[in-house]
Amino acid sequence: MKTIIRSLLACACLSTALAAYGEDPAPEALALAKRVAITTCGTCHGVQGVSAQPKFPNLAGQSENYLAAQLKAFRSQTRGDADALAYMWGMAAPLDDDTIQALSALYASKPGAAGSRVTDPALVARGQSLYLEGKLDQGVPACAACHGPDGHGIADFPRLAGQHAQYLLKQLDSFQTNMRNVAVMHGVASGLKGSDAEAVAAYLESLP
Ligand code: HEC
Ligand code: HEC
Repeated sequence: MKTIIRSLLACACLSTALAAYGEDPAPEALALAKRVAITTCGTCHGVQGVSAQPKFPNLAGQSENYLAAQLKAFRSQTRGDADALAYMWGMAAPLDDDTIQALSALYASKPGAAGSRVTDPALVARGQSLYLEGKLDQGVPACAACHGPDGHGIADFPRLAGQHAQYLLKQLDSFQTNMRNVAVMHGVASGLKGSDAEAVAAYLESLP
């Protein structure tokens, strides 16, 4: 009898521990995140995480781990180009880990942007071939290998589909100059020549 009670207690402890470290954020953290998303983040990123202005990235449908990593990078001031500093360092400073996790889960669960209308089919077609096949003679790997054939991201590699072209271009530039210091993307961005970046950004913006 004693052993049964002991193992039942052990079970109860284990499930409490799992709840604390599990994937789902606590209900209070999620409630706070929903409030913050509407009252603060939504001003720039849109209430549903799809922004109306190309300077502000869409967050909806983005990888949860990627979002959390970026918010922590803004908070520790390690993701640092001029816009990150001006807009996001201050936003991320007061967020604790639980709120970051809950905000990331919230945006990851929302449907991603629909993708824009194609205005320059030739440019978009060039971007598509670059995205899917890379340009190996310039040392540019296929983006699809990490960001997924549909641009929806793979595991922690971020979603790019439906993202504003202006934002994408600015990030490629920041990777190239190491203002946003990420070794793998520095290599990729440095190989993009001429209007390659513009083509791939136009293609990605058009993807649902
Ligand atoms: C005043 C406008 C503004 C507000 C408010 C704001 N952001 Fe941002 N956010 C930006 C800008 C601008 C960028 C792009 C920074 C850059 O270019 O590096 C950004 C980038 C981000 C990114 C990186 C996205 C990516 O694809 O890498 C995340 C995540 C993010 N914001 C989350 C939030 C959250 C969560 C809040 C609310 C707590 C918030 N933002 C509030 C302007 C804002
Ligand atoms: C070997 C894997 C890999 C390949 C190949 C790759 N990327 Fe990335 N990319 C990443 C990682 C990892 C990140 C996230 C960087 C970070 O943590 O800040 C990223 C981030 C980005 C971002 C920033 C997204 C955002 O929301 O801010 C853009 C834009 C991007 N990649 C474009 C491209 C393009 C265009 C190509 C192809 C020409 C490409 N990537 C190829 C791994 C890769």
